[in-house]
Amino acid sequence: MASTARDIAMKGGGYYSRATVGAKHVIDGATPLILNSLEDMSPPDDGSIFTMSDMGCADAGTSMTMVGTVLKEVRRRAPSRPIQMVYTDLPRNDFSQLFRNVLGPAEGASYFDEIDNLHVFASGTSFHRPILPPGTLHLGFSATASHYLSEKPTRIENHVHMVGATGAERDAFTGQGRRDWEAMLLHRARELAPGGRLALFNFGIDEEGRYLGNTGGISMFDTFNELWGELRDEGAITPDEYVDTNFPQHYRTVEEFTRPLREPDNPVHRAGLRLDHAETRVVRCPFAAHFEEHRDSARFAREYIPTLRSWSESTFASGLSPNRPPADCAAILDRFYDRYEAKVREAPRGHAMDYVHCYLIASKVRG
Ligand SMILES: C[S@@+](CC[C@H](N)C(=O)[O-])C[C@H]1O[C@@H](n2cnc3c(N)ncnc32)[C@H](O)[C@@H]1O
Repeated sequence: MASTARDIAMKGGGYYSRATVGAKHVIDGATPLILNSLEDMSPPDDGSIFTMSDMGCADAGTSMTMVGTVLKEVRRRAPSRPIQMVYTDLPRNDFSQLFRNVLGPAEGASYFDEIDNLHVFASGTSFHRPILPPGTLHLGFSATASHYLSEKPTRIENHVHMVGATGAERDAFTGQGRRDWEAMLLHRARELAPGGRLALFNFGIDEEGRYLGNTGGISMFDTFNELWGELRDEGAITPDEYVDTNFPQHYRTVEEFTRPLREPDNPVHRAGLRLDHAETRVVRCPFAAHFEEHRDSARFAREYIPTLRSWSESTFASGLSPNRPPADCAAILDRFYDRYEAKVREAPRGHAMDYVHCYLIASKVRG
């Protein structure tokens, strides 16, 4: 297997949050859910440290407005409490860009200067492992990240994503998805302080079978698969490289997301984590929505492909043989995304990366 979950990376240098305005819409639209859980939590003004984390934060750009809004509310409710904001992601993440986004120099771009007694940290520890000391987390947040598995459980012969897998291959991804989700929740349950909350907004499969880029039009993952298969058929990549290219992801159903929080025998439930809220939402692809106004297919294709590329490129790159020279890899990837762009330009109807998320709020029992 050429690629592993460790190969995951969003494109750095600020590319990620510039290209992923839709992910920001998802977080901004769900901010009231977090403010409500803060109200339920009712943090006392007792001078102790209040800790919030954003796990799987990328460059912190997409959560910036939400984190600012929530931490200002913490400050209003608890003026005496020092606030600790902990950003976490994988070691390969562009943490340098994250600190530039949060700490400046661009004035007004961040909440940092508007909240006193605020301390910002980052950790390069995977959310599949313990990150924070036990009992110290008050508000844990994570968006659009937990679909990334700790490892790829098998190769998918005929598709690049588990949504196209069937039989034993699909079962292997479902099993890995269940183990990772339970372990992730268990780590967070231990880290949460009594009464603490988790707000987890993740890609999933909704009650109507919809998922990212598959909401009734042309399926984005099928298009990825079709174009990658074309490169194999033309000899641009080898059959092994095609089969080695699988997103190390699992899209969970609402049932899969909520089971560990509902079943009394589950270790997560036994650790004191309870489900407060679960819902699914579809957030419209901003590029497709914009196209409905301007009707310029070349512009749509030019603006749309970078958002796909920002998160998918590392998977296609990691499927390529490590023996290929870097320039060769770069040329293959350019050809692949250029082809996707041409496809959208020539027949734009039905292309869209609508976001389908499951929004969960969970709390740690008190005492
Ligand atoms: C699609 S981005 C989402 C970024 C941001 N949370 C948002 O909603 O826009 C997924 C992020 O999850 C991170 N990620 C994936 N697996 C992870 C893991 N095991 N631990 C921590 N972060 C992880 C990736 O590096 C990436 O930054």
